[in-house]
Amino acid sequence: MQKSPASSISRLTIARPDDWHLHIRDGEMMAAVLPHSAHQFARAIIMPNLPRPVVTSADAAAYRARITAALPQGTDFTPLMTAYLTDHSDATDLIDGHGAGILTAAKLYPAHATTGSQHGVTDIAALYPIFAAMERAGMPLLLHGEVTDRDVDIFDREAVFIERTLVPMARDFPSLRIVLEHITTRQAVDFIDAAGENIAATITPQHLHINRNAMFDGGIRPHAYCLPVAKREGHRIALCRAATSGSAKYFLGTDSAPHLVGAKEAACGCAGIFNAPFALESYIQIFDEAEALENFEAFASLSGPAFYRLPVNEARVTLERAETPVPEQITAAGSHIIPFHAGEVLGWRIAPQL
Ligand code: DOR
Ligand code: ZN
Repeated sequence: MQKSPASSISRLTIARPDDWHLHIRDGEMMAAVLPHSAHQFARAIIMPNLPRPVVTSADAAAYRARITAALPQGTDFTPLMTAYLTDHSDATDLIDGHGAGILTAAKLYPAHATTGSQHGVTDIAALYPIFAAMERAGMPLLLHGEVTDRDVDIFDREAVFIERTLVPMARDFPSLRIVLEHITTRQAVDFIDAAGENIAATITPQHLHINRNAMFDGGIRPHAYCLPVAKREGHRIALCRAATSGSAKYFLGTDSAPHLVGAKEAACGCAGIFNAPFALESYIQIFDEAEALENFEAFASLSGPAFYRLPVNEARVTLERAETPVPEQITAAGSHIIPFHAGEVLGWRIAPQL
């Protein structure tokens, strides 16, 4: 079938977008990557998987202060903090932190599912009292949705998590507000489409652009490796349809996860793709190709705030068609990071402020 020509729209002005899933790290790395996210987004949900994870409200308040102090002068960017759930999390501290406006949400990593998840939850059922408290308080639960059993194929770990863990959890806590983060499968889309309004999902740019072949394109490609791993092409197509559909259940979450080049290009390289510098340019290309630019604002700027019960940003941003070369590398912390789309030319840019 012939692909229809791209839309003739060449500029799009929308409410300023937010990133509902971001790894901003700490220290020197944070100083290098934060300006990129602050340029692209007004707010971001900050992931708590630091080497010493952000577990309590006090940890989150201290981390938020470090982020705010690292922001370049005059930047309008608000970090929205999350607490990392462990086997020993304290429900009262979480709910109080949420009520006090310190914690926007809590994040559940199954232990050993991904980078920085070694302190994660070993027995999800044991956290049921915490989920009950969060459900009562209306505090969102953010899920890294993969089982960790080594006997489950890595490409099936999300689908198995949905079947074994998420379906029972959604049944047992029918009003718990859940975000299934960085979805990668058709099964996730089917689950989210069928779920109530209290359940939503974020989608990354990489899972819209690449399938699993990208990791093995002429050799092993560590910069295309993140968790959950990219799946087959049919899954990518299902994700593109979901993201561009205009449904309020899907919103932008980059999962931008910087690692220095040496940690990626190694015998056991880290999972994570650094997409923050050109995130909006990357996402809008998918909407353009799908001829769904009219739904870009819902995905990038409206559906996330609606789910999190926050106002839509008043500031507006214009994206315009223009050749945008992505550099081969970005300097950081005495070394460099290879960004997503390194060396490619994207078709859109954020219009310079006049
Ligand atoms: O690829 C990933 N990198 N997935 C995650 O879940 C964590 C992240 C990181 O922190 O590097
Ligand atoms: Zn993440």
